[in-house]
Amino acid sequence: MSNTSHPDRLTVAAEIIAACLEMNNSGINQGTSGNISVRHGDGILITPTSLAYDRMQPQDIVWMGFDGTVDGALAPSSEWRFHLDIMRAKPEVGAVVHAHPHACTTLAIMEKPIPPIHYMVAVCGGHDIRCAPYATYGTEELSKYALAALEGRSACLLAHHGSIVAGTTLDQAMWRAVEVETLAKQYLGCLPMGEPPLLSEAEIAHVIRKIAGYGHQD
Ligand code: 13P
Repeated sequence: MSNTSHPDRLTVAAEIIAACLEMNNSGINQGTSGNISVRHGDGILITPTSLAYDRMQPQDIVWMGFDGTVDGALAPSSEWRFHLDIMRAKPEVGAVVHAHPHACTTLAIMEKPIPPIHYMVAVCGGHDIRCAPYATYGTEELSKYALAALEGRSACLLAHHGSIVAGTTLDQAMWRAVEVETLAKQYLGCLPMGEPPLLSEAEIAHVIRKIAGYGHQD
């Protein structure tokens, strides 16, 4: 599939912009802190760097090939490296949402993962949501840490930074991003009373099997 001739490029780009606006309206991001990518042909469509979402036009969305080709009038998000690396490493992933949600970022500042406090942790594929170690934004080092934290998972926190959530579709990634922020809020609500009791790994594994057919899961 070529980078420029794909008929759906502008349609997908419009969906990405709508998701960016929704990300800020729903409170899981603010300003231009986040970025979104969607798999497209042999690469990804990704938001440009530091452009306000309400000014973003479909033609501003940048295409990046897995071979390093870039096609766009603007520079891609400064976080293009982990977006591209996640899509390369995880063929099942169709969309990646990076944001700085308040509760997730508060936990990430404390370098704390989200443990199995609630069965909905299972929607990210495992018994916890890991927190990747800190590395400067946009670096290959950050991408490596993120990929390790995403092993067997579709979401992770980034220490002193924010969150990354992946999905097979953009809708699924957006739904999951809100669920992860909800879990983070719930965990933050518990912490003043002490570390909460946890569900077992076996119970989360059971829930992962049970919710396989639940909406949003395909
Ligand atoms: P961009 O505006 O370059 O996408 O960067 C925002 C960001 O989240 C950096 O982590």
